[in-house]
Amino acid sequence: MKDLNLVVVGGAAGLGALLVDMAVAEGAVGIGIIDIDGAAAEAALASAKAKGLRCVAVACDIRTAAASHAAFRQVAEVLGRVDTLINSAAIYPRRPTLGVTDEEWDLSNAVNIKGTYHMMVAAIEQMKTQEPVAHVRGRIVNITSVDAFKAHPKNIHYAATKAAVVSLTKSVADYVAPDGILVNSVAPAGMATEKARASGFLDELAKASPLGRGALPTEIAEWVLMAGGPKNTYMTGENVIVSGGYIYA
Ligand SMILES: NC(=O)c1ccc[n+]([C@@H]2O[C@H](COP(=O)([O-])OP(=O)(O)OC[C@H]3O[C@@H](n4cnc5c(N)ncnc54)[C@H](O)[C@@H]3O)[C@@H](O)[C@H]2O)c1
Repeated sequence: MKDLNLVVVGGAAGLGALLVDMAVAEGAVGIGIIDIDGAAAEAALASAKAKGLRCVAVACDIRTAAASHAAFRQVAEVLGRVDTLINSAAIYPRRPTLGVTDEEWDLSNAVNIKGTYHMMVAAIEQMKTQEPVAHVRGRIVNITSVDAFKAHPKNIHYAATKAAVVSLTKSVADYVAPDGILVNSVAPAGMATEKARASGFLDELAKASPLGRGALPTEIAEWVLMAGGPKNTYMTGENVIVSGGYIYA
């Protein structure tokens, strides 16, 4: 991520916060975090601030277009150029398969699908104005899940939203390919973020893994940075599954 400006949506916690720290360690020069939890987003900028990087945290609920676009513009004003957008914000509440309420559907759809869409559109408007570097004007990485590809007995609506994000990734990638913008997604299996540990499903997933363990968040983050970093100049519209053999695509 050397010399790049990165925006992480959902960067206040878990995988997103880790991606910020790893990008800073790799030499990113600007960091923006957009998250519903503004205080945690500010705190997650600690590594960037310690290195004196350009950085900004904006509190935003990404469920609506107007708020998402305003937040992105605020970040872009500070960073100037946005090389990489990572969409890590999502919710993953467990519900009984035949018992998902309208309210639960609407909330998961709004955060996981619409929020990802809004942030992609906002980023693309910015990236289209930027000069290409090695043919690339910008990169977007959406975090999906193995649940997009597998029957999920306890998380049917979450799985459906992640399948939708795989679809969005392909459609948007195709649309912006002529602009030199690369759009990919990364699908992890269970990884030990604080939220996932608290949700209590990691042991069950580790047992189902041929490798016999869940992923360390860093083992997922490396692939996200690969897809969103300068070594990726030709991959677009792909979903990279990093599941330790939990599923084989
Ligand atoms: N942890 C896992 O086991 C696992 C497995 C597969 C996929 N994933 C995916 O990885 C990503 C990160 O997961 P995590 O475990 O780090 O989650 P997390 O809950 O730790 O982090 C998600 C972040 O998104 C933010 N967020 C939630 N709703 C928002 C909203 N409406 N607007 C703006 N920000 C909002 C939260 O405040 C939080 O900072 C998610 O997309 C998740 O679906 C996680």
